[in-house]
Amino acid sequence: MPSRNYGRVCILFALCLIFLLFVIWIDDHHLRNTFRKQYPKVDQGIDNSTLGFEAIFAINAPWRTDRKDSLMLATAHTGATIEWIDGINASSIDERAYPQGNHRTMTKGNLGSWRAHMNVIRTIIEQNLSTALILEDDADWDHQLRHQLASFGLAARTLPDMLKNADRAGQVHIPSTDETGSPSSNIDPMDLTKRSTLPLPSTFSASSYYPYGDKWDILWLGHCGTSFPPHQNGTAKDSVPDRLKLLNDPTVPPPQLTSAQSPYPPNTRIYHRTHSTLCTLAYAVSQGGARKIMYEHGMRNLDKGYDFALSEWCDGETKHMGERPMCLTSSPAVFGHYWPDNREAGGGKSDIAGVGGGGIVSTGRGLVRSVRGGLEALINGEDL
Ligand SMILES: *[C@@H]1O[C@H](CO)[C@@H](O)[C@H](O)[C@H]1NC(C)=O
Ligand SMILES: *[C@@H]1O[C@H](CO)[C@@H](O)[C@H](O)[C@H]1NC(C)=O
Ligand SMILES: *[C@@H]1O[C@H](CO)[C@@H](O)[C@H](O)[C@H]1NC(C)=O
Ligand SMILES: *[C@@H]1O[C@H](CO)[C@@H](O)[C@H](O)[C@H]1NC(C)=O
Repeated sequence: MPSRNYGRVCILFALCLIFLLFVIWIDDHHLRNTFRKQYPKVDQGIDNSTLGFEAIFAINAPWRTDRKDSLMLATAHTGATIEWIDGINASSIDERAYPQGNHRTMTKGNLGSWRAHMNVIRTIIEQNLSTALILEDDADWDHQLRHQLASFGLAARTLPDMLKNADRAGQVHIPSTDETGSPSSNIDPMDLTKRSTLPLPSTFSASSYYPYGDKWDILWLGHCGTSFPPHQNGTAKDSVPDRLKLLNDPTVPPPQLTSAQSPYPPNTRIYHRTHSTLCTLAYAVSQGGARKIMYEHGMRNLDKGYDFALSEWCDGETKHMGERPMCLTSSPAVFGHYWPDNREAGGGKSDIAGVGGGGIVSTGRGLVRSVRGGLEALINGEDL
């Protein structure tokens, strides 16, 4: 009966096909999952030449052509476009142009740096840019920058609402039933850390026009140190999370290369509100953030280096300041310092006394695969 045989062959063939498709699906699924575990998808404009911001500015003192050359080459390799803003020689600032505050205690380097940052901020306001990334000319980054920024984007869209909740919960604390007899001060700090940290979401459902959301003032992407915000009083048992974690991030340097003590496992990146943050190496501002900075640091008061002033202000500790701005960062930072090994005297030295606090450090500290440290390989067409 040929028709029955034919039927069997058909069924067999169909079964084989289903099995084959299944194997392919498993394989593909597995591959995609392992990839996704390491890096989120780079989407929604972070892929473009301004890294998902409306513009990128880089501050460079015209007399430091060495840094301009090297930053240009690194940016070109990353496929980004930058607009240059001239660094300022403090001697050229008119005494009458300073805001209130005792700026006379500040160094020339700090005064020049302050003015250059104010010039960028003013440009951002003038051009009504929704967001902009500001780089100092010794900023360096990892080969996987866009993937890192995609994760940062997820955090920047999630954290502002989380932090508002946490602030509210910190103000209205109602002790929960199982808290009786164990005051929050007795809670194990590791336990508090666990309770305060959620996994970084892998997608963001609410459609947002901006790849980084629009509820923040500053994204402090490059710093030379920050701390986790202290745990809120009495929010131990019914604690409201205020941090996000990304586990197994291959771009987090191994613990022995970072000086900070972390309560998290190696290769974890934490996204959180800034706290005692150092260096304005790389930071993004929103239009709202730029206007607040211009008022606070360009008009209202000037008595310390811009990075210290910005850090204090982000922590809500500036005297007579208005509402606390929303400043977000990650530990470790996304951008690092590039201080090339010293060639001649002053070769890679920062012009701003005090920045980094530790003199010359060799290439790309805190980066796994530094782009500026790997330029020689990159121009030879090798992979980092
Ligand atoms: C890159 O994407 C951002 C966010 O969508 C946008 O504001 C910006 O204009 C884009 N940059 C370029 C050069 O198109
Ligand atoms: C800054 O300007 C002053 C006065 O014009 C000059 O003496 C000094 O060398 C300048 N500094 C730099 C780094 O160019
Ligand atoms: C600035 O941009 C905002 C949002 O994109 C827009 O609503 C506003 O009208 C703009 N202002 C000016 C002066 O163009
Ligand atoms: C936290 O608790 C301490 C001691 O009970 C108190 O002095 C302090 O004001 C509290 N801080 C906040 C932010 O509520």
